[in-house]
Amino acid sequence: MRLNTNKVHDFVSEEKIFSNRDAASKYVKALYEKTGKGNDFLGWVQLPSAIDEKEISAIEDVASFFKNNKTEIVVVVGIGGSYLGSKATLEALSDNFWQMKNSNCPKVVFAGQNISEDYLYELLELLDTHSYGIVVISKSGTTTEPAVAFRLLKAHLETKIGKTAARESIVAITDKQRGALRTLATQEGYRTFVIPDDVGGRYSVLTPVGLLPIAIAGFDIRQLLQGAQDMQKATGPDIPFEENLAAIYAATRYELYKAGKTAEILCGYHPKLLYVTEWWKQLYGESEGKENKGIFPAGVTLTADLHSMGQYIQEGLRNIFETVISVERTAHKIRIPEDPANLDTLNFLSGKRIDEVNKMAELGTMLAHVDGGVPNIRIEIPAINEYNLGNLFYFFEIACGISGYLLGVNPFDQPGVEAYKKNMFALLDKPGYEEESKKVKARI
Ligand code: PA5
Repeated sequence: MRLNTNKVHDFVSEEKIFSNRDAASKYVKALYEKTGKGNDFLGWVQLPSAIDEKEISAIEDVASFFKNNKTEIVVVVGIGGSYLGSKATLEALSDNFWQMKNSNCPKVVFAGQNISEDYLYELLELLDTHSYGIVVISKSGTTTEPAVAFRLLKAHLETKIGKTAARESIVAITDKQRGALRTLATQEGYRTFVIPDDVGGRYSVLTPVGLLPIAIAGFDIRQLLQGAQDMQKATGPDIPFEENLAAIYAATRYELYKAGKTAEILCGYHPKLLYVTEWWKQLYGESEGKENKGIFPAGVTLTADLHSMGQYIQEGLRNIFETVISVERTAHKIRIPEDPANLDTLNFLSGKRIDEVNKMAELGTMLAHVDGGVPNIRIEIPAINEYNLGNLFYFFEIACGISGYLLGVNPFDQPGVEAYKKNMFALLDKPGYEEESKKVKARI
């Protein structure tokens, strides 16, 4: 992976970025030595090198169980950090049309990431006619969206195949000891995996939370971990600032923020990266958006969004910068055919690879946006595969920790996510919320 910040220097100088050298290095050390804010949630820092063979094999065994049983669908139930890491990985690594193609592994679908009645109805309707298993993921065990979805799915599966067989086909990933899901899993005798106490949801992609769904879908979790491990080595406390890509990325976006660039748009030129952006948005949004501070993380998929958001990026409010994930090699090759009529006047492209056109769109867009006042950071990865995703995930995580510390916030809590829950429970007349209920209903 490479980081290119050349197209930022017209907006903030390299000198300014490098003036964060000491602070950024200090914060990398603080992450490793657990001396900064939120230091009880730093288990993810050493995760890639600390995960043991026993755990990896146990994950692979469960994946083999579903594959050998010819389970057609595995429903992964979770939301936020218990969903986005695996969703991002599966979208990135799967065939674009996987839902319509055959595979020798179960098809992984998600639930519990919304409260849409139609979504759940249509899912249950699909499950009526397919064999399926469930992986339910919740650290707390009480998050409303996945808990509601799991109630429905558990009841459906038990009715369909009987309680005993259902127990065999349900796997729970949750806290080691506490919480409603741990209690239920113990009562029912589900197979379980642990979300470590010191790893928060949005930093959990390299725990069983991310690894199990990825393995079930047939992807190589060892390569993913290897990529993360190599990035851990490349961004550790012994690496000088000048060579530490994560520290440079954090310092660059911090200087851009101070210069008034308060929104960062993550851009991908492959639709498969859409959910990597969603994962990244949660990581940075929940980690930095607090105390009335923080860069607003947004995302676009290009070139599609050049025909919608492109106008705003080119000429709208100048408070934005872009970070482009640039992919060097595609998995497949297609050339554009010659057309004798040439009505679309595109014969100058005949014989060129589709990816060459995509790359020129990428470069042309970068220059146009920079000319329009939008600084551009480029993250270059060789290809979309397990190893490079592991690289990328760990890079963004460690950079997020450094970024949060540069900003002066605790990047590992999320106090703001409780406010909506309080109102929702009051509106739904949850016992204990009687007073809140009166107040909130009076405001509607
Ligand atoms: O990053 C986080 O901590 C959150 O997004 C949580 O992952 C999310 O709210 C789901 O929580 P839980 O796993 O407890 O159901």
